[in-house]
Amino acid sequence: MITAAELKGKYLNFFEQHGHKIIPSASLIPENDPTVLFTTAGMHPLVPYLLGESHPQGRRICSVQKCIRTGDIDDVGDAWHLTFFEMLGNWSLGDYFKQEAISMSFEFLTVILKIPSERISVTCFAGDSTAPLDIEAAQIWEKLGMPKSRIHFLPKKDNWWGPAGQTGPCGPDTEMFYHTKQIEERSTEEFLKLSDHGPFCEIWNDVLMQYNKNKDGGYEDLKQKNVDTGMGVERAVAALNNFDSVYECDTISPILDKVISLSAKGTSRDNRNARIITDHLRAAVMILCDEKGVVPSNVDQGYVLRRLIRRSIRHARLLSINGKFCKEVAMVVVSAMGNSYSEVRKNAQRAFEELEGEEEKFSAALENGTRHLDRMLKAQEESNQKSLDAKSAFDLFQSYGFPLEITAEMCKERGFSVDVDGFNNLMKIHQEISRKGAEQKFKGGLADHGEKTTMLHTATHLLNEALRQVVDLSIHQMGSNITSERLRFDFNYDKKLTDEQILLVEKWVNDAIDAQADVSFETMSLEEAKKLGAQGVFEERYEEKVKVYTIAKGSKIFSREICGGPHVKNTRELVHFKITKQESVAAGVRRIKAIVGVV
Ligand code: SER
Repeated sequence: MITAAELKGKYLNFFEQHGHKIIPSASLIPENDPTVLFTTAGMHPLVPYLLGESHPQGRRICSVQKCIRTGDIDDVGDAWHLTFFEMLGNWSLGDYFKQEAISMSFEFLTVILKIPSERISVTCFAGDSTAPLDIEAAQIWEKLGMPKSRIHFLPKKDNWWGPAGQTGPCGPDTEMFYHTKQIEERSTEEFLKLSDHGPFCEIWNDVLMQYNKNKDGGYEDLKQKNVDTGMGVERAVAALNNFDSVYECDTISPILDKVISLSAKGTSRDNRNARIITDHLRAAVMILCDEKGVVPSNVDQGYVLRRLIRRSIRHARLLSINGKFCKEVAMVVVSAMGNSYSEVRKNAQRAFEELEGEEEKFSAALENGTRHLDRMLKAQEESNQKSLDAKSAFDLFQSYGFPLEITAEMCKERGFSVDVDGFNNLMKIHQEISRKGAEQKFKGGLADHGEKTTMLHTATHLLNEALRQVVDLSIHQMGSNITSERLRFDFNYDKKLTDEQILLVEKWVNDAIDAQADVSFETMSLEEAKKLGAQGVFEERYEEKVKVYTIAKGSKIFSREICGGPHVKNTRELVHFKITKQESVAAGVRRIKAIVGVV
């Protein structure tokens, strides 16, 4: 048997030996990316570098990244889909391309993992009007000894990755499938049948990233050709061990054991309720323990977290787990994940408290709300209606805190449908402005690192320093979020800024803009950066080399900060800076929103 830790160790070791630098997992909450709520792939934190920024660790990178995907939430409970998962990845940032990427993948699978090559099939891009057939990738596979009968050409919907949102880096990919049973396909049709949740399991995806999809939907050549690969740890472990599902992976199975043991009536390992609770609480604990400190709320990431917890509670009741159970399950999550992620152990207590708080809030509401729903459905039935109207679904949300998924699922179990579109409309009307973006962001993609976001990114550095100089030298960044309209900056401070302080902070930044200061970066060790007094979000595991951006005019230094970029070249590009809002986010944390440009 191969464990998750063994697979991760072998992977990182192999790529390190092939000249890659190991970088730590980034937070589950993307920095400076307004278009997605969570980090969805290992490439996500690397987007600026895939677009051509230089990475302080060089051109060969590998990592194990914490990921959350909410798009597949309805599939959770089957054998293969998870909300939280770990992703192994290796990247070439304008360094090697197809030949080396494919050879290394093949060597890792056959030499390191010792998979017999006849148990591997691969797919390549079949080509269409926007991009050509990837014959080069197929020829590389053939040279490595892969027979033509196990190389399949598939269209864009199967063999193209990205962009993760509407715009960004993308390209054809070549995917590797592991045969969990000794069967050989005789045609592509047969391959498709066998790979569709069958005995051929996709374990690795090498994206041969050479295009940037722009806002008009066109594909332009990237500044550099990159390789972006991804292997889902839990799926690979399940496939390699011939497990029936990802729930048998050693970072999940103890959690499922615990859930089953809590059920008064007992249940099987493939029970959908038990699997949903296992998956959702694992994801919830990973979000709660992330250094960014997300808590359950009705907005953005906090709302996803709330839905995961509330859904777990409902599925627990279906499994006859009555009373409180979240902490008990969460404790098992902490022991399953804590060895790989020190923040999980560090923040476990906070996670337990938040889970218990949410459980208290929702448990009674669930019972009362269910009774209310049953009454409404009975009335509908009496008037020969088999659907629940939007207003009633929305009442359940407002009065009992039922997320739409819960209402929809309960209605379905009772043979009713719900007016989902109507509900969403009411929700939109009701939502405060900040909330409005949330559902959109779900479906959205990676940031458009366009001009405006770049300007706001540089303005964020200036604002950080202005706050330190004008208000308090102990101020540092607690969070940052940039859209193409505005920047949002969270920092440690426990009082409302006075009007005078706001004006002085604005003036400090505008003086730096008027000084026409140059923005430049240098790559150096973390020690050197600290010695220079650079600001930075010091997560506990920093990489050995960092990029330090300096904003200076001659010898006058306005700001120095550890950061990946990108930034404007000169502060004059920002034109003018204005604070539009200040508010409190949590105890001791304040938030400022600001804009730049012709204002
Ligand atoms: N970005 C690609 C994926 O998510 C490869 O890492 O599959």
